[in-house]
Amino acid sequence: MKFFIDTANLDQIKEAQALGILDGVTTNPSLMAKEGISGDEKVKQHYIDICNIVDGDVSAEVISTDFEGMVREGEELAALHEQIVVKVPMIMDGIKAIKYFSSKGIRTNCTLIFSPGQALLAAKAGASYISPFLGRLDDISTDGIALIYEIRTIFDNYLFETEILAASIRHPMHIVDCAKIGADIMTGPLSAITALAKHPLTDIGLEKFLADHAKNK
Ligand code: E4P
Repeated sequence: MKFFIDTANLDQIKEAQALGILDGVTTNPSLMAKEGISGDEKVKQHYIDICNIVDGDVSAEVISTDFEGMVREGEELAALHEQIVVKVPMIMDGIKAIKYFSSKGIRTNCTLIFSPGQALLAAKAGASYISPFLGRLDDISTDGIALIYEIRTIFDNYLFETEILAASIRHPMHIVDCAKIGADIMTGPLSAITALAKHPLTDIGLEKFLADHAKNK
């Protein structure tokens, strides 16, 4: 399973990269705004900065919602760095744009996926990744993990090469559940990734080992 971090915060990206387990980064306009990054040139430079920190793919989202606008923006974003993947919203013009990008060899991440039908359509158009938002489904009392499972079944039935990028991860058990049902990638906050390492018995065990070692000195 690949691990992506879902942030535009350079310090957190550096911290995750230093752990040696980072495979990529996802961003979205809200995450860019959270870091106070605005204006075309600053946004583009920020994507380049992120690409220079990580080895893997970096999703950069288009703002346009019409086909021509998405194509123009997506081509500009893809030209910034070879690690850029163009993030396109799940709307009909987005599907058209994904098909266009796929024919030009530009990789895409179809975002805001909330149903198996949306995932199927994006895969059919040739999306490199689809991003089902499982945390946002859980927020409205709908089973986000069940959606990932349904998409896994559909993609396996037809051997789609589109990768399932489980997004809107909120906590470590989301990551574990996604791993159990075969999501290809998860993207989440650094806190959910580092929480995977924590267990009280590990802390108690280590404390005892160190105490016993100190006694024998
Ligand atoms: C994914 O690409 C999105 O940026 C993200 O995972 C959304 O997460 P949220 O629901 O916590 O905002």
